Amino acid sequence: MRVTIIGTGYVGLVSGVCLAARGHQVTCVDTETSIVKGLNQAIPHIYEQGLDDLLREVVSSGRFKATNDLTFALADTDGALIAVGTPSEHGVIDLSYVLQVAREIGLFLKTSERFLPIVVKSTVIPGTTDTVLRREIETASGKTLGAFGLGMNPEFLREGVAVDNFMNPDRIVFGYEDEKTLAFQQALYASWLCDKVAVNSRTAELTKYVSNSLLAVQISAVNEMANFAAALGGIDILEVLKGVHLDKRLNPIVNGKRVEPELLTYLIPGCGFGGSCFPKDVQALQSQGAQLGLPMAMLNAVLSVNETQALEVVAILERELGNLDGRKCLVLGLAFKPDTDDVRESASLRIVAGLLDKGVGVSAHDPIATENFKRSMGTKAGAINFCKDWKAAVREAEIIIIATKWPEYAALEQCDVSGKTIFDARRLISVEKLANAHYLTIGRRITLD
Ligand SMILES: NC(=O)c1ccc[n+]([C@@H]2O[C@H](COP(=O)([O-])OP(=O)(O)OC[C@H]3O[C@@H](n4cnc5c(N)ncnc54)[C@H](O)[C@@H]3O)[C@@H](O)[C@H]2O)c1
Repeated sequence: MRVTIIGTGYVGLVSGVCLAARGHQVTCVDTETSIVKGLNQAIPHIYEQGLDDLLREVVSSGRFKATNDLTFALADTDGALIAVGTPSEHGVIDLSYVLQVAREIGLFLKTSERFLPIVVKSTVIPGTTDTVLRREIETASGKTLGAFGLGMNPEFLREGVAVDNFMNPDRIVFGYEDEKTLAFQQALYASWLCDKVAVNSRTAELTKYVSNSLLAVQISAVNEMANFAAALGGIDILEVLKGVHLDKRLNPIVNGKRVEPELLTYLIPGCGFGGSCFPKDVQALQSQGAQLGLPMAMLNAVLSVNETQALEVVAILERELGNLDGRKCLVLGLAFKPDTDDVRESASLRIVAGLLDKGVGVSAHDPIATENFKRSMGTKAGAINFCKDWKAAVREAEIIIIATKWPEYAALEQCDVSGKTIFDARRLISVEKLANAHYLTIGRRITLD
């Protein structure tokens, strides 16, 4: 099939490359000329495991191309997927990019006689596709639904393992407003053999939000328990959670062996969730609920725990070490999680800003996210010493914070850290390996008041 994907970020590009790898003829559209130019030379502008190789393969096979010209891309296609960003604007979803694309597609439809299925892949709040978007396309095209098709296919990929997630999804949800658009989606994903769910568009939209919100609930709940354990003293929350995780409902025994569900990785204490999805999706659902007159007490609590969790790192350091002014601190990990260069809403942004506010001299390292981090910190980036050799930087630092769980930082166990303070905010290394260091973390205070 011929498919046009509008917006080539993490979702649009990964979808485009994977669909092309499965034999479709894909045209990706982006407004950024540099992105388009790079993609046509098989150079991706984002980092994802396996993306480089797959992009090279589909570009050289002729099944993938990129363009700035939406009209050109729509002229010869079987359907369009919208994958532009839906950022958060003061906690409310900003639909302007999606609406702009809807308008442009509508204007194209005005002069075209062809039926075009339009499927939203961006995360949009429930009721967007079948009302706001539909109206926008109808107004711009002068046509009504039926002359074009409309659907919503939420994306569940996780950054870092996005290619693998897209190729081997847990499920695919087809939201649709007309049968032809359902058929388009079914044909597009015919070679995917996972469970598939066909529902109306607003059900598809809400499926994505409920999925992310429930994961965020678990993270904040565990972090609250971790803070409680630390306040009480004499407890390491990780030992508590070992006992909790062994509940067979969380950790079943299959054929005599424990199965470790990935869900348990969301039940580990840390410095809070970040990224381009959880914070903004929970906020968007919370504010939509508030508009509907609902208290949204649970999501308010999830956000409120997360709001302060990153700065818990700075607060614990201050409590344990006293005045932080003039201390030298190395922050290991700037991406919001390992295996990605994405720093959007990363806990490291808040930790570094909090340290700078306290007068700490900050060095920072990340294997791939440094440039994005510099851009996000703006003028404050000038105050940070970004280093390439983190092991050398360890020698200079008094305090070392592991803020992202990059596996390479586990090598800290082999470094000479005697006399230094190690704050393992992600529970990456084992306290026993740091005999001569002052070990700190979230959810652990062994001493009693
Ligand atoms: N990143 C994720 O892990 C993830 C996972 C699931 C769902 N989502 C959702 O998918 C959507 C896209 O997320 P993302 O992270 O890929 O976004 P992104 O910000 O990485 O990429 C969006 C791209 O769209 C382009 N764009 C903006 N306006 C355009 C226009 N009018 N025409 C063509 N291109 C345009 C931008 O230049 C950019 O390259 C969002 O709604 C997000 O919530 C993201």
